Amino acid sequence: MLPSVLPTESDHIPVLADEVVAALDPRPGEAIVDATFGAGGHASLLAKRLQGDGKLTAIDRDPTVAPYFERFRRETGVKARLHHGEFSAVLEHLAENGVGADVILLDLGVSSMQLDRPDRGFSYAVDAPLDMRMDPGAAYSARELVNEGEEGQLAEIFRRYGEERYARQIARAIVKRRQGRPFERTGDLVEVIKAAIPAPARFGEGHPAKRVFQALRIEVNDELGALARALPAALQMLRPGGRLAVISFHSLEDRIVKRFLRSQEHGCTCPPDFPLCVCGAEPTMRATPRRALRPSAAEIARNPRAQSARLRGAVKA
Ligand SMILES: C[S@@+](CC[C@H](N)C(=O)[O-])C[C@H]1O[C@@H](n2cnc3c(N)ncnc32)[C@H](O)[C@@H]1O
Repeated sequence: MLPSVLPTESDHIPVLADEVVAALDPRPGEAIVDATFGAGGHASLLAKRLQGDGKLTAIDRDPTVAPYFERFRRETGVKARLHHGEFSAVLEHLAENGVGADVILLDLGVSSMQLDRPDRGFSYAVDAPLDMRMDPGAAYSARELVNEGEEGQLAEIFRRYGEERYARQIARAIVKRRQGRPFERTGDLVEVIKAAIPAPARFGEGHPAKRVFQALRIEVNDELGALARALPAALQMLRPGGRLAVISFHSLEDRIVKRFLRSQEHGCTCPPDFPLCVCGAEPTMRATPRRALRPSAAEIARNPRAQSARLRGAVKA
């Protein structure tokens, strides 16, 4: 059973909102795809620019966004449709079926509603069932990963996706503890992480479980794989002159976006030591703005979750 979810005033605050609207610049009559609908904050701002003429396709793998989508439809009156699913799969499906778009937005990661709802198990700050699935219908949760993952695999996940310095020690402690009793709740995991970290390190750089929780969430939801698959599908969907914007929240995501845009801007795939291009591949996108945009100090003060956000945009050639 899904929890009852009614939109409230404390819903997700859209990050870099003015910058997103400026980069995507939707015009009346255009087709917008918001691939990470969430509470529909960005979608509402983008839809306003359509002035009642155009359509918006919303995607989210979390079915609890449905009431937010209904509110969006009621308040904007825009022609809109919600697809429940993983965005790379939905974008690929739409592209294969010849559906075009003028504007595509990906605002990555979890929403405030997912983080703040204890039963979703994303937060290290409250004791809750160990879950972290963005789609509560997905087969694989943090519970399976933490109780069944091999020690080496867990350490690698913590190191790579969380940049956790004590990855090996934490993985070892998890495997030792689960031999007696499997992990069921976030609180148990937090205790084991704290105990595995040397005492002085427990008080530096934020909550001691923050990096491990981020790493588990990225792995459980295959966040980097989904992003890498979604970018070419988004490019395929975009019409000439179409605009793409991606908001990422950590360097691993931003690197995938940056590399993809660079390769599309470059076009040619010949080895660098070839004196002449023989592949004939043309640039397909132009990054604009050239560099990633960061939130202002005023935005971070208003919405601390914007702190690590980076926005990259591009126009299809
Ligand atoms: C940061 S929130 C988006 C908030 C939204 N822009 C707003 O203004 O309310 C990210 C949303 O994207 C969804 N999401 C993240 N990765 C996804 C994926 N690979 N496929 C589909 N939905 C995804 C999450 O479930 C979440 O609802």
